[in-house]
Amino acid sequence: MFRFKTVSSLLFLTAAILVCCVFILHFLTPTYESFENIVHESNENVSGVKFLPSGEAHGSRANLLTPANESNQNIIEPSIKCHDYSIPIEKYRSQPIVRGVIVSFPSLKSDYYFVQFRWFYRSWIESEMFTLDHWRTDIIILIADQFPSRTRKVLEHLDCRVENQRTSRRQISRCILVNHKLFSQRSRSQRQLYIGKYPLLNPANKLHPNIDRLFAIYDYTNRNEANMYDLLMVTTMNTFLTTQFGKYIPIKCSFLIGTTPDYSTWYGKTDQIKQFAHTLLSTLKQSDGTRKNVTIDFPSAIEKLKSTFSFIEGQVDVSCDSKITTYRTSVYHLKCYAHSTSLFSERMFRENAYDGYEKEPFNIYIAREYATLMALQSKVMTLDGLHSLAINVTRRAVFT
Ligand SMILES: *[C@@H]1O[C@H](CO)[C@@H](O)[C@H](O)[C@H]1NC(C)=O
Ligand SMILES: *[C@@H]1O[C@H](CO)[C@@H](O)[C@H](O)[C@H]1NC(C)=O
Ligand SMILES: *[C@@H]1O[C@H](CO)[C@@H](O)[C@H](O)[C@H]1NC(C)=O
Ligand SMILES: *[C@@H]1O[C@H](CO)[C@@H](O)[C@H](O)[C@H]1NC(C)=O
Repeated sequence: MFRFKTVSSLLFLTAAILVCCVFILHFLTPTYESFENIVHESNENVSGVKFLPSGEAHGSRANLLTPANESNQNIIEPSIKCHDYSIPIEKYRSQPIVRGVIVSFPSLKSDYYFVQFRWFYRSWIESEMFTLDHWRTDIIILIADQFPSRTRKVLEHLDCRVENQRTSRRQISRCILVNHKLFSQRSRSQRQLYIGKYPLLNPANKLHPNIDRLFAIYDYTNRNEANMYDLLMVTTMNTFLTTQFGKYIPIKCSFLIGTTPDYSTWYGKTDQIKQFAHTLLSTLKQSDGTRKNVTIDFPSAIEKLKSTFSFIEGQVDVSCDSKITTYRTSVYHLKCYAHSTSLFSERMFRENAYDGYEKEPFNIYIAREYATLMALQSKVMTLDGLHSLAINVTRRAVFT
């Protein structure tokens, strides 16, 4: 009895000290409070996932990205003033926002990519759990004509369909298939039209897959239906949307990009995404003097746009084996790089190395643990289960 009392009073003292520390830190870190990309809610409830005890939250504070000064964030301030510079994120939180996350699903090796798609879809559900009542986020999947019907069927099983195209801003978050015609399959006159605008889009040969993907994105963002979205993210499927993605949009002319050299993820206003795709197509370069080897020149496009965009790195395409915390930080999106063998490793996941660990108490606010949990859950859940979870999570929005 005596020992129990001692232990409990010690615990009480520790808790009191922690509360004091948090209170003092609160005053020592004014930049943290004033940084608008960061969310202030705490004690959010997540179904079935272990929570960060307050002590750990306090301990992980040291890892928090300090805005603008963190080494992995390179911010180039735009030289012109942004028209929405004074609008804080809180203002957007009370407004309806419609976002689209665009992935282009390759027709080749579609079974391989479907493994990634499942976990990407699962992470979208998780970000939806944390999102705001008036916000909507759609997954937009670009598929080409020769997309295998078998994979199309499993996508439809997750209710990703062509017919789901958004027709109003109030509709709940959804998953949409978009048929896309490859550049090589356009009519001759259509190709000429594009080549007139972007001379290095090669007329005769097949485009490199990366340029084909860029063309698909360019083509989609210039359709009318893309104007339904306030913001767009362009990404690949070996990625995870984080819980922070649920309640954050880039503000003040920010344009979030992944890391060099491939910059496979971009996140910004729809106009910015359009402009970026256009600029990339107009700065294509031929590396060996022939039209056979045309490549995307990201540095030139970024240079051209940096007077109007505030490019930010290190907030999307954060490595999925990172130990970084995503709790109240500006980490919106994780990406798995092929070479990694440490948790979370796509390669080891595919080799079933993590099987049986889906019941571990993973901490969803540590990048690598979040990725592992999302991937494992997407694997052990049936397609029906995943779909039912998506319905349950997105349905909340109907009542707002
Ligand atoms: C958190 O979720 C649990 C069940 O998962 C529920 O009993 C509890 O009331 C919730 N707490 C809050 C603050 O919503
Ligand atoms: C942090 O960044 C701001 C500009 O964003 C700059 O004014 C300030 O000097 C930087 N602080 C440090 C410690 O580098
Ligand atoms: C194209 O050029 C790049 C260098 O700019 C080179 O790395 C690549 O191997 C070339 N590809 C082909 C198919 O020649
Ligand atoms: C979705 O909600 C229904 C009804 O509330 C429930 O029976 C079902 O288990 C839920 N599905 C998931 C995956 O949570």
